Formats: sequence, structure tokens, C-alpha cells
Amino acid sequence: MQHSMQRPVNEGILILDYGSQYTLLITRRLRELGVYAEVIDGTRSAPLEDFHYHGIILSGGPDTVTEEGARTMPAWVKSSNKPVLGICYGMQLMAGVSGGKLRSGTQREYGRAQLKLELDHVPSYATSLKKLPAVQTVWMSHGDDVEGSSGIFEVLGRTEDGVVAVMAHKERPWIGLQFHPEVQHSEHGAELLKIFISDICKAPLNWDAGCMMESSLAKIRENVGNGKVLMAVSGGVDSTVAAVLLTRALGFEQVHAIFVDHGLLRKDEAKWVQNEFARLGVHLTALDRSQEFYAALKGVSDPEQKRKIIGRKFIEVFESFAKSQTGFTHLGQGTLYPDVIESAGHGSGAKVIKSHHNVGGLPEKLHLELCEPFRYLFKDEVRAIGRQLGIPEQLVDRHPFPGPGLAVRILGEIEPESVRILQEADAIFINRLREENLYHAVWQAFAVLLPVKSVGVMGDNRTYQKTCALRAVTASDGMTAGVGDLPISFLVRVSDEIVRKVNGINRVVYDVTTKPPATIEWE
Ligand code: XMP
Repeated sequence: MQHSMQRPVNEGILILDYGSQYTLLITRRLRELGVYAEVIDGTRSAPLEDFHYHGIILSGGPDTVTEEGARTMPAWVKSSNKPVLGICYGMQLMAGVSGGKLRSGTQREYGRAQLKLELDHVPSYATSLKKLPAVQTVWMSHGDDVEGSSGIFEVLGRTEDGVVAVMAHKERPWIGLQFHPEVQHSEHGAELLKIFISDICKAPLNWDAGCMMESSLAKIRENVGNGKVLMAVSGGVDSTVAAVLLTRALGFEQVHAIFVDHGLLRKDEAKWVQNEFARLGVHLTALDRSQEFYAALKGVSDPEQKRKIIGRKFIEVFESFAKSQTGFTHLGQGTLYPDVIESAGHGSGAKVIKSHHNVGGLPEKLHLELCEPFRYLFKDEVRAIGRQLGIPEQLVDRHPFPGPGLAVRILGEIEPESVRILQEADAIFINRLREENLYHAVWQAFAVLLPVKSVGVMGDNRTYQKTCALRAVTASDGMTAGVGDLPISFLVRVSDEIVRKVNGINRVVYDVTTKPPATIEWE
């Protein structure tokens, strides 16, 4: 199925990807600085059509420039005469095409390094680099480097080991960095990127929340016209903002949001979502199908089976609803830019560990065109649009919640009573996190119900009940995760409240496993 959503604006910076794990991070940083940036394949034979680029960034990557099969810089980069910033592999590519000398693996540097700038002979186009402190910490990750000055490049900085860390072409506005300015550990990395985009590329800094919203509204109107959009919503950030944005662009009559309650949601979630959507003026139909889902899951304890059943059932419910209505032309989806880039083969590309449930395959079945208003946006940008649209903070800033919901947090077979118990425990944990200002100290937090019973004592009575595990993780995208460093006194208070108030749980444990080796969800 083709998507027909156009990019939100048609000017900015092009980022050529050579396979670095940081390519998307560079893109995000530039957009945070106020310039729209887009990733394309580093070997692409032509720039993007209908896109005015003010400058080019060449990403890092795992190849070695001098080896056979290494990705090369396309000829149009040089002939465009646009400013270029080469990062790591990108810097080596620049040196390679200009006759600079490269060394392979002689000076491996990973992690923090001290950069000392030497700006006495800085080319005139790069004099703004003088705004930066002469000595600063930078983040290195490379095995190859450029050997000294070649006569074509001016060396503008070295690390304490003498590695050329900053260089500038003497004639072209080309700057090479051996370190990663996009990584937070590079102390003045953001300032450096800003100097490149503003002072060297002269790109206007006009990418802000207002622009994101206005351009998205315009593109939706262009894309859908007089059509009608069907949109599945989950109560999560992306689908909520998408439904509100679509409604703002097209009007109440042209957008219909569907919320399937599979009975595995957080406590009072279905009611809450309905109230919020009503307040936000979105046409929403909530379908309570919990009994159907419970029946389909009865007796099933294998995690993958549970996921597959829920995914299948969800599509069934959604499809039958869609077919009961007429007039839909589009299916709305909250797909984000990183998903698009990953599936195009750029970025790191992750192996499927668990089957994720979504509405894949539905547009074809329903003969609907896809409408993906966030195809070019990052999650933070979606949040910014959400705030701009007046969506309450509690909805915009929520932790992620998995499609199969509590099914992957109740280990083993699912019974309605276990769902109730877990909902209660989870609500206590989350409310406490919010009350004690710890909700945003972690990236995601939730309770898990284990089928493990243990002995306890309450008053004068012996208890023999289930165990609740609390999980709180730090992360930036969920691909890896650290353990949330919640105060033990806080955890004890939460545990105390859960055991006192939730009949069915008499023991609480805290999960201290990182990802990898564990996943965030338990199933
Ligand atoms: P794992 O457990 O794979 O989770 O480490 C990483 C992130 O993904 C969420 N997750 C899901 N999200 N459908 C979703 O929409 C799913 O099936 C699903 N499974 C896991 C998880 O909550 C965490 O944020």
C-alpha cells in the first residue's frame, strides 16, 4: 500500500547515511536546533527531488574508506558546492576524495577524549568556530583517522593523542570531525552543529512546534482532501495526537477514531480515554470486547501465543467495525520517522524478539489508503505538536504501553481476576510515581503479576498469595534499557501500599535487570 503523505517542509539539511548507529541522532539534534533534516542513503545517485538543501552531513559508519566495497561519497555532493560536514567515516570520505592520507586502525579511540582547537589558520568560512572553547571533551568512536594535514585541509584541532579531530578544506566549505558532535558526551557538540547549520550553511532556523503543526495540518488536508479517515487509537501518545491533529485538519465528520478495549488495559483507562477524547472534540467509538478477548485467551500461557491471539483478534474486531461503516477512504496510523528509516534499511535495524501487535495488513484488506501524519517526525516532535494542540500533559507525556497490554505482564494464563489484581497494583505504583515527582525520572514503569505464591503474615493470619514485580527502566527508545534508580524508601512505600490494599498480592519485588540481557516487558 502506497502512502501519499508528503514531507512537511521542502528545505533543510540532507544527512547521508553510511550506517552509523548515530545517524538518526544527528537528524534529531539538527531539528532540535531548529532546522528540518532528512536522512537519505549515503550512496544515493541524486539528492532528493523538490527539496532545497542548504548543506549536507556525511554520517559515520563501519566501513574503512580504503577497503574494497566501502561506501563512497556520490559525485553530486562535490558538484553541489554546498557546505558539507563529515563526521567520522564522513570525514574520512572527504579526505579520501580530496587526496588526503588515511590511517587504518593505528590510533583507535573510543569514548571521551580532550579536543584542543588550533584556529590560527582557520579558513574564513569557518571563523565562527572561534566561538567554541579551545579545550573541550568530545566523544570519539573510530578506528581509522586522517593523517596530518594534506595541504588541501587545514588541521583545526587534535585530541591529546595527536589524532586530527577537526579539519577544514582550504577552498570548499567542508569541515571534517573525527568525533561525534551529536552525542551528548561531546560537551559543545550542539553548538558546533549550530555553527555549521547557521553560520556556514546559512539555513533558516524555522523548524519549531508551530511550523510542525501548521505544515502537518496542510499536508493532511492535501493528502485526504474530502475523504474520510478511520483511525485506531490506543490511548498512547502517537495515536492520540494523530487523531486530534487529523480532526483539527479535516473536521469532526471526516475522522472516526476507534478504541478497542481488549480488557487488558490499565485501571480505568477505557473510561479515561473516552472522556479525554470527548473533551478534545474527537469522534470516538469505544468497543468493549474484553469478554471476547478473555475467551480467546482462556487456557493459553505461552507468551508468543498470547501475543498472536491478541493481534489477530484486534484485527478481526477492527475489520468488522470498518466493514460495518461506509465512506472511509483512508486509514490513519501513527508511524514515526525512525520506523520509516529502519524499514528502509538505514539505521541499526533490529531483530524481532517479540511479535509486536499492530494493524499491519489492514489497509490492503480494507482497500484504504494510508494516512501517516508523523511519517517524517520524531516522537518528541509529536509531543510538541500535541502540546500545541492543547492536549493535556498527562496524555502527551505518558510512558509507552504495549499493544497486548497486561497480557504480557500477567505471566502464564490470564484470568479476569488476575487482570483486576494487576490493575490495582499498577495504579498504586504509577500514582505514587506521579505524586512523588518520579514519573519522569524513568522512561517506563509498570507492575507485573507473577504466578508465584509465597507465604506471608497479615495481622494474625498466614497468607499464601501471588508476587508482584515492579519494573522501572531508563531508556531513550526502548532498544536498550537501564534500571530505574528509584529510592528504596519509595519502593518500600509502594510495596506497603500494594500489599495492604490489593487482595491477592502479599509480596513485592523490584526487577533490577537491564536490557539486554532481559527485555523490558516480561513476556
Ligand atoms: P521489550 O519488552 O521488547 O519492549 O524490551 C520494548 C518496548 O516496546 C514495548 N512493547 C510493545 N509495544 N506492542 C507495542 O506497541 C507490543 O507488542 C510491544 N511489546 C513490547 C514495551 O512496552 C517497551 O516500551
